[in-house]
Amino acid sequence: MSHDYDALFAQDRAHFMHPSTHAHDHASGALPGRIIKSASGIRIKDHEGRELIDAFAGLYCVNIGYGRTEVAEAIYKQARELAYYHTYVGHSTEAIIELSRRIIEWAPQGMKKVYYGLSGSDANETQIKLVRYYNNVLGRPRKKKIISRQRGYHGSGIMTGSLTGLASFHQHFDLPHADVRHAACPHFYKAPAGMDEAAFVRHCAEDLERLILAEGPDTVAAFIGEPVMGTGGIIVPPKGYWEAIQAVLARYDILLIADEVVCAFGRLGTPMGSQLFGMRPDLITTAKGLTSAYAPLSAVIVGEKVWDVIEEASARDGAMGHGWTYSGHPICAAAALANLDILEQENITGNAAEVGAYLNARLRQTFDDHPLVGEVRGIGMLAAIEFMADREARTPFDLALKVGPRVSAACLERGMIARAMPHGDILGFAPPLVLTQAEADLVVDIARQAVDAVAADIL
Ligand SMILES: Cc1ncc(COP(=O)(O)O)c(C=O)c1O
Repeated sequence: MSHDYDALFAQDRAHFMHPSTHAHDHASGALPGRIIKSASGIRIKDHEGRELIDAFAGLYCVNIGYGRTEVAEAIYKQARELAYYHTYVGHSTEAIIELSRRIIEWAPQGMKKVYYGLSGSDANETQIKLVRYYNNVLGRPRKKKIISRQRGYHGSGIMTGSLTGLASFHQHFDLPHADVRHAACPHFYKAPAGMDEAAFVRHCAEDLERLILAEGPDTVAAFIGEPVMGTGGIIVPPKGYWEAIQAVLARYDILLIADEVVCAFGRLGTPMGSQLFGMRPDLITTAKGLTSAYAPLSAVIVGEKVWDVIEEASARDGAMGHGWTYSGHPICAAAALANLDILEQENITGNAAEVGAYLNARLRQTFDDHPLVGEVRGIGMLAAIEFMADREARTPFDLALKVGPRVSAACLERGMIARAMPHGDILGFAPPLVLTQAEADLVVDIARQAVDAVAADIL
């Protein structure tokens, strides 16, 4: 491989269309590039040999940490034995059969079948098709709308980008699609003044019920939500939220899709987020932590209620017309099995609970009273700091000041990646779940230096 990085960057700017990247700044070189060369544990190394703590685990996906050769070996072995065969019309490989059983073991009760794709977006696209299919074969063709939430994130396809409740994912794409609605975001910190947590939960449930009634319950098919919102700003729902939401859904025969793309496979210190919040989803979306991103793989987990309808319908209508070439790809399945072995054998979920609680406690101690900070929040190995111009009045900064991105850049200067979340001035943390207590201390110390540096600049 060439080590003439100037030439490589020139090629990158000329030909590589990066996701979520300012096209002009990239092409002009105003946006500095970084070529990642290697990684181990919680650290990545770039082309200058600079080591960075990755306190966001890539895109909250490298749950077991970087550089686990067991996964590389499993991929190698599978690739040599059988690199690919499709899974249409009942074809299987041993790896995908075993993986399906093990995913059901990680999932909450009542789950039956697993369908595979390669990304969270394609998995949610499958969910929407399953929901349509389910209601159509039940003779309810009007029951089609899907409700997600403002600031929810569910992908960036046509339908999944519509479900995503962030304006930048709709702008210039003619989205959201007509079958999508957005309910209130469960961010208690932003609740109307004087409202306590229980009242805010009622407010969210009533908002949802009002929406369903306004649309007509016979037109609303499903509600999709992340157990803890990720990209919208790492928002932990208030106590009792999911119970209240599920009560509304049950009243109107509306399916619940738990989008566990971030939360599943240990991130919240439980197998999935559903178990933590007592969620009883009909359908579950997973990706990211399923392979810790060593290979691309998503899994749609179908509950018994939906599955029974699908199976019965096939007797009348034949096979469902839905499939991807790479569904259940054996190399990805082998990576997932090796990843689940590591997660289970090393009790990494337990570590996420323990060190995650420590990280969150230290972030709160360090930033709760900081003049730049409005709220510190998180759960398990997920955390966020939200910056406010006026702590008392909860007034945000002018977005043009770019406080979140500036703190993120100050972290980077000090050797750590923490993500400036896209909505508001929020610094997000989602480290690999193998983080140690000493590493958590380091993350908090660097964050403190970065926030202090930006505060010195703007206060
Ligand atoms: C909750 C959630 N759902 C879906 C997705 C989409 O996944 P992908 O980027 O793999 O398409 C993401 C990605 O961050 C996510 O966080």
